Amino acid sequence: MAARPQNFVCQSCGAASARWAGRCEACGAWNTITEEGAASTARPSRKGRQFAIESLKGETHEAPRAPSGIAEFDRVTGGGLVRGSVLLLGGDPGIGKSTLLIEVAAAFARNRHRAVYISGEEAVAQVRLRAERLGLAEATVEVAAETSVEDIVATLSHGSIPRLLVIDSIQTMWTQTVEAAPGTVTQVRGSAGELIRFAKRTGAAVILVGHVTKDGQIAGPRVVEHMVDAVLSFEGEGSHQFRILRAIKNRFGPTDEIGVFEMTGTGLREVANPSELFLSERELGSPGTAVFAGIEGTRPLLVEMQALVAPTTLGTPRRAVVGWDQSRLSMVLAVLEAHCGVRLSGHDVYLNVAGGLRIQEPAADVAAAAALVSSLARAPLPADAVYFGEVSLSGAVRPVAQTAARLKEAQKLGFVRAILPEGARGETPEAGLALLPVGMLVNLVSEIAARGDTSRRGARDRDVAAE
Ligand SMILES: Nc1ncnc2c1ncn2[C@@H]1O[C@H](COP(=O)(O)OP(=O)(O)OP(=O)(O)O)[C@@H](O)[C@H]1O
Ligand SMILES: [Mg+2]
Repeated sequence: MAARPQNFVCQSCGAASARWAGRCEACGAWNTITEEGAASTARPSRKGRQFAIESLKGETHEAPRAPSGIAEFDRVTGGGLVRGSVLLLGGDPGIGKSTLLIEVAAAFARNRHRAVYISGEEAVAQVRLRAERLGLAEATVEVAAETSVEDIVATLSHGSIPRLLVIDSIQTMWTQTVEAAPGTVTQVRGSAGELIRFAKRTGAAVILVGHVTKDGQIAGPRVVEHMVDAVLSFEGEGSHQFRILRAIKNRFGPTDEIGVFEMTGTGLREVANPSELFLSERELGSPGTAVFAGIEGTRPLLVEMQALVAPTTLGTPRRAVVGWDQSRLSMVLAVLEAHCGVRLSGHDVYLNVAGGLRIQEPAADVAAAAALVSSLARAPLPADAVYFGEVSLSGAVRPVAQTAARLKEAQKLGFVRAILPEGARGETPEAGLALLPVGMLVNLVSEIAARGDTSRRGARDRDVAAE
């Protein structure tokens, strides 16, 4: 008996099965399996064709990379778009993906490259309206509203090949090569495959927009992420103006660089000095905030960490974190309990990285611990100090990379002291910046707690005097 065709495909992970089920066995997601047209399993009728194999040493005639001129975008892509490469840009609805890409397309057009913007979601008039608002009405970007991949490829294979092709979005595209409804995993994968082949064949750089699901993954199959050369994510908090472009995967560049933009009525503005922006809304003198001297890629970045430690009314106290790693927070809390005598089991703990930034560095441990203890002891930290250092499970403060860059940035922004790991003691100090090394976290904790005691005693004395 012939094997039954695997027509049921999980819309989350792309696993195929012969039967419908409520839960995908591969990824565990519920209610994600739908029936799709069978992929053709017929034996190919033609024999394999022979092709030429080239030497790696061969010459490339044109510069393989084209920078857009938008510095923050070029930084994240690793210096510009590589010929024949395909990028996937993901991001929440309304975050500004179309805005970013029309600006990138316009920048390419300004550099006298042919740039084509295909929208599957908006009519040409809408795209034009946006361009007008962004002051790009005069840009020589070519625009079309189209969803058929075959038509797009056929149209663009004639005449000069575009240097940049933007597809907004891959979820709206459909190809005749697979029999499935637009938006399904099979269609998204099929369409992406066709467009990738187009890019490789012609040397055009293609940027695909991908929608993001509620839990932050690029909707449709993860397999598209494997098919493309780079995956970028455009992030930001709805209430903030900052937008961060981050590389999640990049075959031609670094993945730890971020690009920072500010969304304005007239488009995205590049932020050349993000520290200034992230520290601009600082509330000075309130307990529970510490400035972390971080590094994103090659660039130092100062950002405020805010903590709130409050008595809990729940059996199991809450531990919530925004912008940092949950397990890192748990570890810092455990070290504070075990080695520093800080009792937190009766307290809810909230930690937030200001400005909607997401940091991944363990170097933020010391800043997080300082903010937490400051909140618990109601002792404001000095407003002119920066904190960094990794905390080990034994409670020691361990050195971190790129100390000099962190100190330089702190000095540039007017900070006068840096609380840093003992191991960085030998670091040449920046003028006007005092280095205060910490060996064990407990020393920092008792210093902050002592400050809390004195400030409370001072307040009590004032109250008594006033009576
Ligand atoms: N008139 C305006 N003035 C200021 N900002 C605006 C204006 N219109 C739109 N914006 C900004 O542009 C954002 C929408 O940008 P854009 O359409 O590029 O997002 P998107 O990520 O492509 O969304 P979608 O997921 O719907 O495609 C809005 O969230 C808003 O911040
Ligand atoms: Mg859009």
